[in-house]
Amino acid sequence: MYTEKVMDHFKNPRNVGEIENASGVGTVGNAKCGDIMRIYLDIDENEIIQDVKFKTFGCGAAVATSSMATELVKGKTVQEALAVTNKAVMEALDGLPPVKVHCSLLAEEAIHAALWDYAEKNGIKIDGLEKPKNDISEHEEEEEY
Ligand code: FES
Repeated sequence: MYTEKVMDHFKNPRNVGEIENASGVGTVGNAKCGDIMRIYLDIDENEIIQDVKFKTFGCGAAVATSSMATELVKGKTVQEALAVTNKAVMEALDGLPPVKVHCSLLAEEAIHAALWDYAEKNGIKIDGLEKPKNDISEHEEEEEY
């Protein structure tokens, strides 16, 4: 049901963890299944993503897509990261079963939410970035998951 790449990223997810004093943090929830993902971005003064980490309370496809998404945005500029869609992540994983496509949205939305947080903290506007609908960071307690 899953491609080799999905299984690889599920079993050995890249960039799991958190970044202290991150430039931007985005937390999103998937309304369909209740799964949650948080992405931390470390962005330098040239707007390049130096480091990225994630934590996911979610299914295997969510873990694999977050892992791949972090690989795709690492070292990229803010604008390039914005262009990393869930479609691009799925293609990089050689596809996902149709019932799991919604899981890949978490990664895209979490990256956007983290970029939004970064922009807000720095008082800047990122062209093409809209306020994330799904950002739940304001409504949750600080808890570990
Ligand atoms: Fe919830 Fe996949 S089933 S993210």
